[in-house]
Amino acid sequence: MGSKITLSVIKADVGGFVGHGSVHPDMLKNAEEILEQQGKELLVDFFVTNVGDDINLILTHKEGINSEKVHKLAWNTFLSCTEVAKSLKMYGAGQDLLSDAFSGNIKGMGPGIAEMEFEERPSEPVIIFMADKTEPGAWNLPLYKIFADPFNTIGLVIDPKMHSGFCFEVLDLVEDKKVTFSCPEELYDLLIFLGASNRYVVKSVYTKNKEIAAVSSTQKMNQMAGRYVGKDDPVLIVRCQSGLPAVGEVLEPFANPHLVTGWMRGSHYGPLIPVSQKQAVPTRFDGPPRAIAMGFQLANGRLIGPQDLFADVAFDRARQKALKAADYIRQMGPFEPHRLPLDEMEYTTMPQVMEKLKNRFK
Ligand code: 13P
Ligand code: 13P
Ligand code: MG
Ligand code: MG
Repeated sequence: MGSKITLSVIKADVGGFVGHGSVHPDMLKNAEEILEQQGKELLVDFFVTNVGDDINLILTHKEGINSEKVHKLAWNTFLSCTEVAKSLKMYGAGQDLLSDAFSGNIKGMGPGIAEMEFEERPSEPVIIFMADKTEPGAWNLPLYKIFADPFNTIGLVIDPKMHSGFCFEVLDLVEDKKVTFSCPEELYDLLIFLGASNRYVVKSVYTKNKEIAAVSSTQKMNQMAGRYVGKDDPVLIVRCQSGLPAVGEVLEPFANPHLVTGWMRGSHYGPLIPVSQKQAVPTRFDGPPRAIAMGFQLANGRLIGPQDLFADVAFDRARQKALKAADYIRQMGPFEPHRLPLDEMEYTTMPQVMEKLKNRFK
C-alpha cells in the first residue's frame, strides 16, 4: 500500500433483461449494496453502471492491480447478482461466470477487467469506455487515433508534453504473447497488427516516460471456454489532459463510427454507436453494438461524476451515420461480410450440416 491509487473496472454479464438487452434494476441495486457492505474497508469509492446486459463495477482502492481481495469482492458481487437474476429468471443468468469457485484472480474466470495503478495528479480526469455486443479489438482503431493520429489528436503536434508520442503494448490473443511499439517511429509496424483486431488487441498505452495512459480488458471469452458463453464486451480506461490527450481528443474517434464484430449471436459485423448510458439498450437485431463513455474527476480516489460524455448532441450525427451503416449492412443478412467468416462465428451449424450432407459431396 502506497500513496498510489488503483482504478479497476470489472464487468460481467450475469443475466439479461429482456433477452440480451439490459440489466434489471434490482441487479444493479444489489451490486451497489454488496460493494457498500463488503467493500467498506477495501474500497475508496465505487460506481455501478451497465451497458446493455453487462454490469460494470468501477472501483478505486489502494491495493494495486491484481489484488486478490478486490477481485474476490467483484466475483462475490457478480455471484450475488446472479442469484437475483435467477430469482427473476433473467436471460442467461450467470452467463459470464465460468467457474464455481474463485481462484485468486478474476482473470480467466469470465468477467472482463481493466485496471491501472498511478500517482493521482493535481487534477485527474479519466474516461471509462464500456461496450456491449462487441470484442476487445473494438478499441484498436480509436486507441490508434487517440494516441497516434495527429489528424485526430492535435496535441501530438502542438503540445510539447505530447510531441514525443506514446508506446502501445499489443497482445496476440491466439499465442498469448505481448509486444510493445514505440510511436510515431514504429507506426507502420503497429498498424499491420492493430488492423487485425480480431487477433491483436491494444492492452495498454504508456507515455515515453512509462506513465500509464490507457488500459483495456482483453479477455477473449469464447476461446477461454472453448464454446459459446457470450462475448467479451470490453471496457477501456483512458487518463486525460496535462501531457495526455485532452478529453475531447479521446472522444473524437467515436464521431466516426467504425465497424466491429459482435452483433447478433456474436457473429456479425456492425457499426459501434456511441450512446448515452440511457440509450445503452441494444434491441435491433440485438444491437447494433454500442459504446458509452463515463467521465470522472478523481479526488483522492473518490470518483467525482460521472459525466455521460456521449450524451452530447455533438454525437447525434455519429449516431445517424451508424444507423445508416446498420441499415446498409443488415441487407446482407446471412452473407459475409455482415456475417463473420466461418471460423470466427460464435454459433455455427456447419459441423452438423456437413455431417448430414457428407455422402452427397462428389
Ligand atoms: P492541458 O494541456 O492542460 O491538458 O490542456 C489541453 C486542453 O484541454 C485543450 O483543449
Ligand atoms: P451478449 O454477449 O451481450 O450476452 O450478447 C449475446 C448475443 O450475441 C445476442 O445476440
Ligand atoms: Mg447476454
Ligand atoms: Mg453483453
